[in-house]
Amino acid sequence: MAILKLYEYPHPILRKKCERVTKVDDEMRKFLDDILETMYADKGCGLAAPQVGVSKRVIVLDDNPSDKDESLRNPMYLVNPEIIWKSEEKVLFCEGCLSLPDQRADVERHEKIRVHFLDYNGKEQEILAEDLLAIILQHEIDHLDGILYIDHLSRLKRSRLLKKLEKYREENKEKGEKND
Ligand code: NI
Repeated sequence: MAILKLYEYPHPILRKKCERVTKVDDEMRKFLDDILETMYADKGCGLAAPQVGVSKRVIVLDDNPSDKDESLRNPMYLVNPEIIWKSEEKVLFCEGCLSLPDQRADVERHEKIRVHFLDYNGKEQEILAEDLLAIILQHEIDHLDGILYIDHLSRLKRSRLLKKLEKYREENKEKGEKND
């Protein structure tokens, strides 16, 4: 397995609509292993293929990521995931994204969704997701259509968040230079 390079905002690959996967073969399974390892290495609870520079409809997630005890992990691989039903009820949750490091904001999502996808073995699956799992799924599936969670914020909140991101990057650049 390998840890892949993360693509951060505003890289254009994050804005592209991803292509459907035609076959879940060994090459795809190797990619699924690598993207999951990258997600754990960066302490994320979800990661979409465009975030590692691959414009394909693939996401991985874990709604119970554990650094300490790997046996508690609950990884999920979803190829060509599609939301086929959404509840009318919505919930607010404070989201973050590995492509916008160190930032978080409240986003409104459907409380429950039903998702159709192909699993690690290419088998068709359907799940009814709620709570954190439903939120992660909506966030990651958005990535496959070039949508970031900041797109769900008001213009004011978005520009504030992007300014904070810029500041965070400048500060970390300075720290990095001092350590050199
Ligand atoms: Ni994200």
